[in-house]
Amino acid sequence: MGKCPDCGAWDSLDAERLEPKARVDPRATSMATWDESKEDLAGDAEPARHGARPITEVASAEAMDRPRIATGINELDRVLGGGFVPGSAVLLGGDPGIGKSTLLLQAAGGLARAGTRTLYVSSEESAEQVCMRAARLGVTDAPELYLLSETSLTRITEQAARALSDSPPGRPPVLIIDSVQMVYNAGLDAFPGSLTQLRRCCAELVYFAKASGVTVVLVGHVTKDGQLAGPRLLEHLVDAVLYFEGDRYHAHRVVRAVKNRFGTTLEIGLFEMRDGGLHQATDASGLAVLSGAGEARPGAVVCPVLTGSRCFMVEIQALTATGFLGAAKRKSSGLDANRLAMLIAVLEQHAGHRLADRDIFASSVGGVRVVEPAADLALLLAIAGANLRRALAPGVAVIGEVGLGGEVRPVGQLIARAHEAQRLGFKSLIVPAASAKQGAGLDEPSLSKLKLIPVKSIAMAIEQLG
Ligand code: TYD
Ligand code: MG
Repeated sequence: MGKCPDCGAWDSLDAERLEPKARVDPRATSMATWDESKEDLAGDAEPARHGARPITEVASAEAMDRPRIATGINELDRVLGGGFVPGSAVLLGGDPGIGKSTLLLQAAGGLARAGTRTLYVSSEESAEQVCMRAARLGVTDAPELYLLSETSLTRITEQAARALSDSPPGRPPVLIIDSVQMVYNAGLDAFPGSLTQLRRCCAELVYFAKASGVTVVLVGHVTKDGQLAGPRLLEHLVDAVLYFEGDRYHAHRVVRAVKNRFGTTLEIGLFEMRDGGLHQATDASGLAVLSGAGEARPGAVVCPVLTGSRCFMVEIQALTATGFLGAAKRKSSGLDANRLAMLIAVLEQHAGHRLADRDIFASSVGGVRVVEPAADLALLLAIAGANLRRALAPGVAVIGEVGLGGEVRPVGQLIARAHEAQRLGFKSLIVPAASAKQGAGLDEPSLSKLKLIPVKSIAMAIEQLG
């Protein structure tokens, strides 16, 4: 309109765009499907449709003490914080071929054997293909395990409502969708596999979980740069995000939580891929993979690393090579790139190393991501050793945080780390001088077999390179 109908002024009106109305309420489809099957799941499937209530009333409701659903796979349960929380939505991400389907099928088998009705929906494989894998994993004998091969969201929720509605009383069921990327909602214009589809399907499945009390586990593929497809798009929608990591060409696999509304994100689960599926690697020592242990190797340093409640001996490796001034490469795998840059600067500044024209590569062996500053000194000695072609004596492990002034600072839980080093046969431990003082705990008799080498500065530590 050029002229205002009220005051008669010309050209005084601005266009304002209205938010287009959502054509379908995301809750509508999943809730409707659910309401159709009039069964009340496990007696306590009351969706969050209450008004405001005092916290005391909420706390006394039976929803509070719903037990967790353990999968029977301890390494997975630990990462989840004791098992699945009924009615929660969990996302499992990882590279293709890393073992997501294998892990979840094994978990489904464990759940079903323990009497939990579990529906495994494959949107990528036929039910027969899933069954062939199940046979390989030895989980074909569980009558509570249901299989479905389907990509349409409406049919998935409909089938889930049907298959899960008569599940054993008192045992909230579990729905596994492998993978959510292949699921589509026909009510949307967007192509199957597009971000719109992905977001909406995921949101509807999360609503389904909340409304029905069914635990929903979603598998998501990771893109080339390591993000769950659709940059972190789905992570906000779900209650817990687990990543399945590891080198596809090595047997070790690590499950880690990057978000968990019901537990810590510090714990990791360790697995090994074998012929019969994933095996739990309970003895963490297996990880140290002391390739060529017993001989001194420049550029390789072992550090006791803590993740959650466990300590692993992790080997940190570094390599330096001739590069170009101003364009030297710094690459790290399994280590924090910023920490690497900082340690290189400290080495130049406080130990007189000239690294500006050296390419530097650093990695942690065995697939455990090392992020804690307690591994600083080990990484620094690996780089210095690689550069000087000098190595620590065999049987020496290193622990310590490095400060910007080149000083070696104390780290937490030193005693647990020292015990792990001693248990795995390490003879000496390079430790921050401040922690080696009498009364700091490291002088207790149970650690008598471990020789302590206290260091105050990185210069003192570098002297240990033979
Ligand atoms: P898969 O679970 O299909 O990976 P994802 O679902 O993450 O894409 O399989 C991972 C790989 O594990 C596959 O390439 C073959 C291998 N594998 C074994 O080594 N042993 C086994 O028992 C199974 C089932 C798979
Ligand atoms: Mg798969």
